[in-house]
Amino acid sequence: MTTGFGTEIVSVINKLQDVFSAVGSSAAQIDLPQICVLGSQSSGKSSVLENIVGRDFLPRGTGIVTRRPLVLQLIHRPATSPVPTVNGNGSEKGADPMANENEWGEFLHLPGEKFYDFNKIRAEIVRDTEAKTGRNAGISPQPINLRIYSPNVLTLTLVDLPGLTKVPVGDQPKDIEKQIRDMLNKYISKPACIILAVTAANTDLANSDGLKLAREVDPEGTRTIGVLTKVDLMDQGTDVVDILAGRVIPLRLGYVPVVNRGQRDIETSKPIQAALEHERQYFENHPSYKGKAQYCGTPFLARKLNMILMHHIRATLPDIKARITSQLQKFNLELASLGGPLGDGGSQSIVLSVITEFTNEFRTVIDGNTNDLSLNE
Ligand code: GDP
Ligand code: NA
Ligand code: MG
Repeated sequence: MTTGFGTEIVSVINKLQDVFSAVGSSAAQIDLPQICVLGSQSSGKSSVLENIVGRDFLPRGTGIVTRRPLVLQLIHRPATSPVPTVNGNGSEKGADPMANENEWGEFLHLPGEKFYDFNKIRAEIVRDTEAKTGRNAGISPQPINLRIYSPNVLTLTLVDLPGLTKVPVGDQPKDIEKQIRDMLNKYISKPACIILAVTAANTDLANSDGLKLAREVDPEGTRTIGVLTKVDLMDQGTDVVDILAGRVIPLRLGYVPVVNRGQRDIETSKPIQAALEHERQYFENHPSYKGKAQYCGTPFLARKLNMILMHHIRATLPDIKARITSQLQKFNLELASLGGPLGDGGSQSIVLSVITEFTNEFRTVIDGNTNDLSLNE
């Protein structure tokens, strides 16, 4: 599925992200590569993410369900137990029937706690969202950090963002549209961000909010990938062939058409594997797509994303290296001003341990991998 090389590089990037989060404000000064999902409300963003992961775990429903950024680190990890075994409490009401010991999630705000039941991951996302934003559909730029370890994912970092919306609902603030745009802009304007611009195929591409916003920050289209959802809901006799061929709004990195579960599939709890199989058959049997079915659907999208992320990391690593070096110098100066590493006392040992971790991660990236990436020339 994925090369060891790629997995290693991305997992180091993921560790760096955690270290930077722990360091706090200085984290903001180093922008690591990640893939952000952008599009109108209900265009299918969460569905695309779930299909890439191959598990149900995102809160869903109509309206603004995603109200805080979700930084989702997928980490490919070979299965340790050959036969997936159901995780003990399979009879528990509402327990995740797919729970097994090879796949779990961990939240940064709940260190050391492993979630094998993906229904509980969803519940925790909802709980923590409400804790930080209230129940009244307010939004917050404070991210939720979730890692998913699994033999069935490609190593990727994805960010689920609130959807673009025009009309406030309930007691949402009147400037909700601007609040969301500002939050999205903060993520997608970073040069290290790869934008997954999601548009429903049964709407007009020219009116795509996601594509419009992506163009503002990436006018050359060098880091925007188009995803066309709801291809199955298009009018009979119409298709996305012209869009895929770049004859409508060309994107340098192209478009990938997908078929996610419909609302009815979700209501009847259609398993995600059945949905992926349905998607495969849809493209293989459709007269417009069967000649190029290998370039359609979620598995192709996941491979394409992994490839693009690899290239992107290679391209941005020299810049990351320079930033880390300057951060490291700053930390060393701060440490010296605190009396040096030999002093004792709580705050000093915290600073020291952060720097030690930071330095180790730094060495892993720079010494371990840069030769492969030809950064030392
Ligand atoms: P989000 O608001 O952008 O995260 O959108 P969701 O992923 O929650 O999807 C919104 C609705 O569209 C849900 O009812 C999904 O079942 C439905 N949906 C998403 N993608 C597709 C698709 O490819 N085909 C069909 N038929 N329905 C879809
Ligand atoms: Na939604
Ligand atoms: Mg969503």
